[in-house]
Amino acid sequence: MRIGVAGLGTVGVGVLKIIEQHGKLLSDRTGRNFEVVAVSGRSRTKDRGVSLDGMTWYDNAVDLASDPNVDMVLELIGGSEGVARDLCVAALEAGKPVVTANKALLAVHGTELARLAEKNNVPLAYEAAVAGGIPIVKAMREGLAANAISRVYGILNGTCNYILTEMEETGGDFAAILKDAQDLGYAEADPSFDVDGVDAAHKLAILTSLAFGTPVDFDSVYIEGIREVSAQDIAFAQEFGYRIRLLGVARRTEQGIEQRVHPCMVRKDTAIANVSGVFNAVVAEGDFVDSTVYEGRGAGEGPTASAVMADVVDIAAGRVSPTFGIPVDKMTDIPKIPVEEH
Ligand code: HSE
Repeated sequence: MRIGVAGLGTVGVGVLKIIEQHGKLLSDRTGRNFEVVAVSGRSRTKDRGVSLDGMTWYDNAVDLASDPNVDMVLELIGGSEGVARDLCVAALEAGKPVVTANKALLAVHGTELARLAEKNNVPLAYEAAVAGGIPIVKAMREGLAANAISRVYGILNGTCNYILTEMEETGGDFAAILKDAQDLGYAEADPSFDVDGVDAAHKLAILTSLAFGTPVDFDSVYIEGIREVSAQDIAFAQEFGYRIRLLGVARRTEQGIEQRVHPCMVRKDTAIANVSGVFNAVVAEGDFVDSTVYEGRGAGEGPTASAVMADVVDIAAGRVSPTFGIPVDKMTDIPKIPVEEH
C-alpha cells in the first residue's frame, strides 16, 4: 500500500511516526506493507522529527492524486475549500481511496464527496474527523447499524473542553489556556473555529448524517461557542452542583431533526461532566441497544493519527462501508428544525 500524505502538521507527522514505528504490526494485521512514497507540506526543510527520505515531495498537494506510485491519498491539510477539496476530488476521480481528517470539508461538501466516491467505487474514510481518537464513526456506522437512533450528543471539541476544565480547576485566564491548547497541538489553525463552536458543529453535522441517514447539513446547526463563559459562570454552576461543557446535540423529533452546539450546565454526577481536559465523549441512543457512551482523547497528534491509520488499515484489509453508512441515493431528507423555534 503506497501512501501519499498531504499535510505535514500535527496529524501528518503523527501518521508518519505510526507507520515508522508500527510497520510490522500493521503488516501482520492486514497482510499488506505500508509505505509513504510521497508527501506535501508547507515547508520542505522544516525539522519535524521524522525522516522524509525517499519520499517524493510535492509543492502542490493536488499532484499527489496523479502520481502513479500513490495507491491511497491521506488528506491532512484541513479547510473546507481550496487544495484540500481539490485533492480529494482529484484522488476520487482517479479511483484512489481517500482518508481525511477534515471535518470542515465533510461538513460542507460531505454528501457531494460521498456521491463522487460511490460513482468511482472508491472509499472515502474520515474516522479522524470526529472526536479524534474515539472510533465513533465506526461505532455509529457499523456498531449501531441495526438501530434507529433517537439522539446523539457529546463533547466534540478538545480545545474547548480543555479550556473549560482548566478554567474550573486552575482559575486560569481564557487567553492563556487557549495558548496552551495551541502549543499542545489541540487547536485548529484558526482557533476561533474551536472557541466559537464551529469545529464542534462540523463534527455534529457529520454525526447527524451517520445517525439519521440524512444528507450532511452544516447550515442547519445552531452554533454558540464558549467565549461568553466567564469564571463567574463556572463558579455559580459549581455552587449548584453543575459543570459547564460545550455540547453538540442532534436529536430526532416529530417535526424533524434538531442540531445544536452551545455551552450546557451538566450535573456533576453525570458521565459527561466528568470528561476533562482534551477528552471528548459521545453518547448515542439507539432503540435496541439503549444508551452507549464513548470516551477518549479528542485532539492531538497520537489520537488523531491513530484514527487516520484505522481507516488506512480498514481500506488495506478490504473493509469498506458507504461513506455515511448508507448510499447517498438512500438518504432521507428529514427537515432540520431551527433551534430558536423551541
Ligand atoms: N481542534 C480540534 C479540537 C481538533 O480541539 O477538538 C480535533 O478535531
